[in-house]
Amino acid sequence: MYDFNLFYENYVNEFETYVKKYTDGLQTRPNVLGESMRYSLLNGGKRVRPVLMLACADVLQLPKDSVLPFALALEILHTYSLVHDDLPAMDNDDFRRGKPSCHKQFGEANAILAGDGLLNEAYAICFKECFKGERQILASVYLNECAGIYGMIAGQSADLYHSDNETDVSEEELLYIYEHKTGKLLLAPIIIPCILNSNKSFVAWEEFGKLLGTLFQMTDDILDVVGSFEKLGKSIGKDANENKLTCIKLYGLEGAKIRADMCAKDCRAVLEGIDGDTQFLSDFIDYLLNRSK
Ligand code: IPE
Ligand code: IPE
Ligand code: MG
Ligand code: MG
Ligand code: MG
Repeated sequence: MYDFNLFYENYVNEFETYVKKYTDGLQTRPNVLGESMRYSLLNGGKRVRPVLMLACADVLQLPKDSVLPFALALEILHTYSLVHDDLPAMDNDDFRRGKPSCHKQFGEANAILAGDGLLNEAYAICFKECFKGERQILASVYLNECAGIYGMIAGQSADLYHSDNETDVSEEELLYIYEHKTGKLLLAPIIIPCILNSNKSFVAWEEFGKLLGTLFQMTDDILDVVGSFEKLGKSIGKDANENKLTCIKLYGLEGAKIRADMCAKDCRAVLEGIDGDTQFLSDFIDYLLNRSK
């Protein structure tokens, strides 16, 4: 019988086996480079992006083998973005996933290099996939766009800009930050299976992914206010401290919760237009809306 938590767990297990094989093979000189990369990659994230990619592959009836390398590359990119996001020069966070953040564990310079190493590895995995055919090339190009200077990095840059500048505090700016710093790496796990599956139009999937990304960052902002360190495994109250442009700053806590509800509702409506067995994805929306970690 279908059970959301069980499905989620199965997807995570499948991914963990794959990621472990990768990290077991990491051999660097000096050792600290590989060790810091492994530390960050294996330290207990929710694996939302790989789970989403595996689930979308299931809806499209794509074999898991075809998406797993991209799921790994994506999670590696996400991990590097967290290692750098936590650095003193960025959000200055001492904890991540319930443990000292990479720079707390290995020192700032090593954490910068761990992030650099992860970033390079993600594309090394993609390059290997490119030998398989044109769809893999297109998927790799797409991932690069999502992570790059028109994607996640642009969002991180806008996020930093707004913590230093009180100008342009608007919904449009907030949505720009959401769509880029978080949204792009949540769109990738949805669109990459579509690219690998066919060259048909996937407008509805794109709409679904965008809304899911916005929902994800809204709940991240809300949890920064109402969440607990024990559950989240990262410091709370840091957005207000750093004067970040968040949905809390713009709408207040209650207003932010209402918007998150609305966003989840829109997301469900879009999903209804997508063919296939989308039960898990529908439950995934509720999971993101109601999450406590
Ligand atoms: C945290 O992402 C960073 C954001 C984009 C908000 P996650 O909440 O997915 O972090 P992990 O991977 O579970 O640690
Ligand atoms: C981080 O956003 C987004 C990326 C790392 C790309 P946040 O700064 O809000 O994430 P947390 O709250 O530190 O996890
Ligand atoms: Mg940040
Ligand atoms: Mg942060
Ligand atoms: Mg946050």
